[in-house]
Amino acid sequence: MYDAAPFAAAAPRRLTVGVADGTGTGGWDWRASVAARVGTVAGAWEGTGVRARVAAPRRTPGRPRIRALRRGLVPLALVVLAVALLGCDAPMSTSEIEGSWNKEVWKPYWVIIWLAGIVFVAIMAATIVLSLMYRERPGREARQIHGNTKFEVVWTIIPVVIVLVMMVPTLDSLFKLDEEPPADALKVEVIGHQWWFEFRYPELDIVTANELHIPEGRVVDYALRSVDVIHSFWVPQLAGKVDMVPGRDNRMAFSALNARPEPYLGQCVEFCGTSHANMRFRVFVHTAEDFERWAREQAAPRVSSVSRTAEEAFLAAPCLGCHTVRGTNAAGIAGPNLTHVGSRTTIGSGMLENTPAELRRWIANSSAVKPGSKMPPMAQSAGGTLTDEQIDVIIGYLQSLK
Ligand code: CUA
Repeated sequence: MYDAAPFAAAAPRRLTVGVADGTGTGGWDWRASVAARVGTVAGAWEGTGVRARVAAPRRTPGRPRIRALRRGLVPLALVVLAVALLGCDAPMSTSEIEGSWNKEVWKPYWVIIWLAGIVFVAIMAATIVLSLMYRERPGREARQIHGNTKFEVVWTIIPVVIVLVMMVPTLDSLFKLDEEPPADALKVEVIGHQWWFEFRYPELDIVTANELHIPEGRVVDYALRSVDVIHSFWVPQLAGKVDMVPGRDNRMAFSALNARPEPYLGQCVEFCGTSHANMRFRVFVHTAEDFERWAREQAAPRVSSVSRTAEEAFLAAPCLGCHTVRGTNAAGIAGPNLTHVGSRTTIGSGMLENTPAELRRWIANSSAVKPGSKMPPMAQSAGGTLTDEQIDVIIGYLQSLK
């Protein structure tokens, strides 16, 4: 009796049984080819002593199947978790629709998410149903459908239709986002520096840094530039990313939908050197009236409630080489404009709260806070020229510049 199992797996329909001649030349003494089904006795041949039975291929034990099932559950759980997290409140999440740009982008997103969801469910359901229906069973063999024209046409046309359905709203949104901003759009120039953001409002005569203020519902026409390397402008809850490239103006226009007290967080998203990750900014969205008030205050010359001597101390320090305080002879442009620095909530490009203690840390030795900072240490203890008393006076002066 010859067990023909190895043949059965590869070619269950025809079974070749042979007895070698024993001479080692590879010739056959006797050979027979029979039609055979798994589990049946294919034949017995008189006079040869040969009987062949086609054995069913060995079953895989149950345990690896369970393991495979478990392995499949992990990615599924991760997908469910990711979808659940989409619903969480996250200050840097693009799924928050707080700007006109994000609103536009989410139109095709929804189409794509729905289509992808339908495809996912259909494929998963078909995979499960078909693998149960056509699972391996004794006495069954697969029918080959390779090269079936009807199937090939159907599963070519379905994806083409899906892609076309996704393309229409995508192109529509792309063109809308590229439209010229309206004539009454607020013009803002955003200038990237290593490692901070400068904001200029040419029509309002305002220059500020790291804290952008805009009115709700009004389109802002951004001109994005850089004075050194490539940076990128991104406020995830409001709009997509646009690079700030030295030597050219990139444009983008969008409005923030809702005024709110807490700022939106922005971040440079193009690697621009040591403190790229520390190049942050905030966007404050005001009602129209609040924005007018803010703009009026910012356009005004510096107002300081402290003594003239404090200002003189500031002007005698190295600060004026890099910083401007409008109305004084501090007119440097390498660092942020400090005319109304006391009105900002943060310093150091959004790294520190604007408090006397944090200002002291910053002024004393800024690169201890922000590695690579271009501002040299000021405190004598860190190799600078200012005494602690002089720094105290300067802090008082800067905090008074509202
Ligand atoms: Cu600027 Cu990264």
